[in-house]
Amino acid sequence: MKLLAPSILSADFSILGEQIKEVEEAGADIIHLDIMDGVYVPNITFGIPVIESIRPITKLPFDAHLMIVNPEKYVLDFIKAGVDMISFHMDATIHSHRLVDQIKSNGAKAGVVLNPATPVNTLEEIIHYIDYVLIMSVNPGFGGQKFIPQTAQKVTKLISLMEESGNTDILIEIDGGVGQDNIGYLSMLGVNIFVAGSAVFKGNIKENVKKLKEKMQVAI
Ligand code: DX5
Ligand code: ZN
Repeated sequence: MKLLAPSILSADFSILGEQIKEVEEAGADIIHLDIMDGVYVPNITFGIPVIESIRPITKLPFDAHLMIVNPEKYVLDFIKAGVDMISFHMDATIHSHRLVDQIKSNGAKAGVVLNPATPVNTLEEIIHYIDYVLIMSVNPGFGGQKFIPQTAQKVTKLISLMEESGNTDILIEIDGGVGQDNIGYLSMLGVNIFVAGSAVFKGNIKENVKKLKEKMQVAI
């Protein structure tokens, strides 16, 4: 499965609704929502009211990437606002297993995020319970950063861990610095969901989505 998830962090917020419609019409598969609290990461973005107001605009699934401390306090609100997938950073919460359970029992897919310096083996005990893993290929906090090449090796390591654990249904998502120059390679390594912010919203959105989708399909 290969899915393109534009991150609206790089969209023009003055015409957010139009831009979401445009990526949907162009063939995007998921809308990626970067939720930052200014504590877990050095930046603040948007929250529940924005999600509620864009929810009726599109049929695409919403994927919330929570870069916030104590995510367990807010996951229910995100799900109520219409989020379908929720990922969190394990070092932002104390009881990761409980949180995964909370997300799944309320009807959303649960994912865990690996920062660039977080090893894949930290997933060893949680891998049996999650639906997807989000590999950060930049340090979380900002759009438009350069892809960190070493993070690509984690895709292969993660596939080995999935095979060892017997949970091979997990989807692999990658986030940060993904563009036309590396999406084909990442797809070949086994990535399923490609988050792209600036590579979608800078320039011609329709053309960008079309080219990224063509290149990510090469590896099927
Ligand atoms: C960074 C965010 C990313 C980011 C992606 O903390 O998680 O989703 O917005 O933006 P680009 O594709 O521009 O690196
Ligand atoms: Zn993200």
